[in-house]
Amino acid sequence: MDLTELKNRAKEEIEKIVDLKSADDFFKKYLGKKGEVAQIFDSLKDLAIEEKKAIGQEANILKKEIEEFFNTKADELKNASKQAGLGHKAEKIDITRPGQKIQRGHLHPLTLAMNEACCIFQTMGFEIAQGPELETEWYNFDALNVPKDHPARDMQDTFWLKDTRTVKNEIKSSKLLMRTQTSPVQIRYMESHQPPLRIIAPGRVFRNEATDAKHGAQFYQLEGLMVDKEVAACNFKAIIEEFLKRFFKTNIEMRLRPGFFPFTEPSFEIDVKRPDGRWMEIMGAGMVHPNVFRAAGLNASVKPGLGWQGFAFGVGIDRLAIVKYKISDIRLLYQNDLRFLQQF
Ligand code: PHE
Repeated sequence: MDLTELKNRAKEEIEKIVDLKSADDFFKKYLGKKGEVAQIFDSLKDLAIEEKKAIGQEANILKKEIEEFFNTKADELKNASKQAGLGHKAEKIDITRPGQKIQRGHLHPLTLAMNEACCIFQTMGFEIAQGPELETEWYNFDALNVPKDHPARDMQDTFWLKDTRTVKNEIKSSKLLMRTQTSPVQIRYMESHQPPLRIIAPGRVFRNEATDAKHGAQFYQLEGLMVDKEVAACNFKAIIEEFLKRFFKTNIEMRLRPGFFPFTEPSFEIDVKRPDGRWMEIMGAGMVHPNVFRAAGLNASVKPGLGWQGFAFGVGIDRLAIVKYKISDIRLLYQNDLRFLQQF
């Protein structure tokens, strides 16, 4: 009886098996009650005691080996049928089911409002200008005609820096602050560009004040400046009306109130009517004060044709956003609460 031959045969056979039915046949043939392995054990009874022992041991090992061949193959076949979706517990794929929605990020409502506002002004010929958030007292106040002891300096509670080092090339002022407004960009731009000009300057501004539903210690402004030989308040009104109409996509009601800013004369404050009927101030504006032109090294004139004239405005982007998206409280814009942000 050649046990090695039997083992090799079994191995060869099992390797060729590709389905459960033939695996079953294989089991019967080798490991079944009347299978080849059982026959070996049967034949032991005719042998002498010594041989019985020796062959019995070998036959036991052989049985285990063939069982292992079978088990490995059986597992292999089961896995394959599961993957193909044929097994009884196999996953069924319903191709008509809607897919799982992929979570995607999107722009913040403030960014949306800022982008939209910039776009609208760009289509009206305004170029984008920028200035630093860390400013000097000169650009934020002095050059904008705010006298040293004027309450307007307190009006916009300023974050002053302890450090008073002179900034690069800055001889005019050494005191540093976080800009309280984007208006210093007007001066910086006019210093290096000759009118006629039309710019907007979007950016972050900082104020040392308590926050509430309409005020934040840090918020966004969009400064506008138009300078030419003949620019009047009616030009300002027309441009702002057009801007608001496009930004809010309705004929939103607006009103101009007289206001005060040291860098404009006359000055206005602009309100828009919120959907609930209440007025909301969204911007300060006015005709550029001659002292501002002078500080930037330009000739000013109140009479058309003799020097430069212009209007300037500073619109609060946060305010625009809360009116446009009907948000009740400006602070929601800075809390990064996904339940809020996912609505945009
Ligand atoms: N800088 C002013 C503010 O922050 C707004 C403003 C800008 C007013 C330009 C007039 C002209 O309140």
